[in-house]
Amino acid sequence: MSTLRVKSITSLRAEFSVPGDKSISHRAAIFGGLSNGVCEISNFLPSEDCLNTLKAMGSLGARYEVLEGLEGYGPIKLRIHGQSMRLSAPEAPIDCGNSGTGMRLLAGLLAGQTFTSELFGDASLSSRPMGRITLPLAEMGANLETLGQKPGCAPLRIHEAKLHPIDYEMPMASAQVKSAVLLAGLFANGTTSVTQPSVTRDHTERMMAAFKLRCETVGNKISVVGGQIPQACDIKVPGDISSAAFWLVAAAAMPGSRLVLQDVGLNPTRTAILKVLSRMGAHLTEISHTSQGEPIGHIEIQGAALKGTTLLAEEIPNLIDEIPVIAVAAALATGETHIRGARELRVKETDRITTTVENLRKMGVDVEEFEDGMLIRGGSPLHGAEIESHGDHRIAMAFCMAGLFAKGETVVRGTDCINTSYPGFSHHLNAIQLEKTKPEDFNLPIVSK
Ligand code: S3P
Repeated sequence: MSTLRVKSITSLRAEFSVPGDKSISHRAAIFGGLSNGVCEISNFLPSEDCLNTLKAMGSLGARYEVLEGLEGYGPIKLRIHGQSMRLSAPEAPIDCGNSGTGMRLLAGLLAGQTFTSELFGDASLSSRPMGRITLPLAEMGANLETLGQKPGCAPLRIHEAKLHPIDYEMPMASAQVKSAVLLAGLFANGTTSVTQPSVTRDHTERMMAAFKLRCETVGNKISVVGGQIPQACDIKVPGDISSAAFWLVAAAAMPGSRLVLQDVGLNPTRTAILKVLSRMGAHLTEISHTSQGEPIGHIEIQGAALKGTTLLAEEIPNLIDEIPVIAVAAALATGETHIRGARELRVKETDRITTTVENLRKMGVDVEEFEDGMLIRGGSPLHGAEIESHGDHRIAMAFCMAGLFAKGETVVRGTDCINTSYPGFSHHLNAIQLEKTKPEDFNLPIVSK
């Protein structure tokens, strides 16, 4: 099990870019593999989660070639050969690793095939709820079994089935569930619709548009007609704002700092973190342009003495992955920060309410835990501690940020999991600790094929 050791810094003045967006990379691999030709994907995230989805598409017949790779990790530029919606039976069960997105989207894709397939994952993924996708997919006529020791959990066995469209009222605000149903809808005869209780990340809808699939959004209802074939196109994946969030918080909470993160995805269904940091007192500028339907741009942030805030109910789905690091920002801010209505955190890679609260307390933070969130009374100095990631990448990275502000050394245990979303994180952390400033100090080693 690997460990990261972090000491406090006094200055953060840097300019660099973070790796590609995880959500968009999964979808690029899936839609590229379904398309009617060859697609070049650049700035693909070579993380374990996305590699598993890419390999899954390979095992379903969508061959890919690596054009450029990140040394020690995987492809960042690749060419994928689309199968015009005709997938072939995989030879073996498909490994989704740690990825809820991978498993749920692939389940939607596989629900309406002419062959049986199986999806499995690691211990964390095998304890996460799959009923949220198996129920709507079953309503569409899918024949799915959950084979896990825990009821309703993975592995999933997906038998061949002929799907019919549904009009689904989604009970929770989940982009994964929405995407699973829409992907299944592409294999059903007629119009499949999903109505979401509040806006969730819309990368699937934007990716469908990039591949010239008709997908209509009216209010909170998204509809897709089955039988369409994605038209091959090239995709440039923007930097992941959820990875950027770690450095944004570190810079925001450090008066005198200035950080520029280049080419970050600025999709409005993902940028609630920026609003929250501004509310807390950080000075933020976004310079954006659009590329293939996904807004992308530079973020400049200047640190300040932060103050506590209240996360709004409608913001929660649009910053759900950032809550552990927002909790760290809250610990560094004066006053109270209220995070409620975030029960979904309990079914992420870990129960992120418990793992965040437990680790904040270890660093001396006054925090109260609720079933659906937490109340943080910030502003007291943090002290270094032994932090447990519990195998959760976002917990590991969030507490590395806390370590940058703590008195004494912070030891974060179980940091291998960071590779599921941020390959090269430790290199960037090292550069920040050495108070490096230039983009080239943050470059990761790329190998061309
Ligand atoms: C994701 C959606 C979110 C998010 C996850 C990625 C996606 O999950 O937490 O990291 O790519 O669709 P839910 O849709 O379950 O909230």
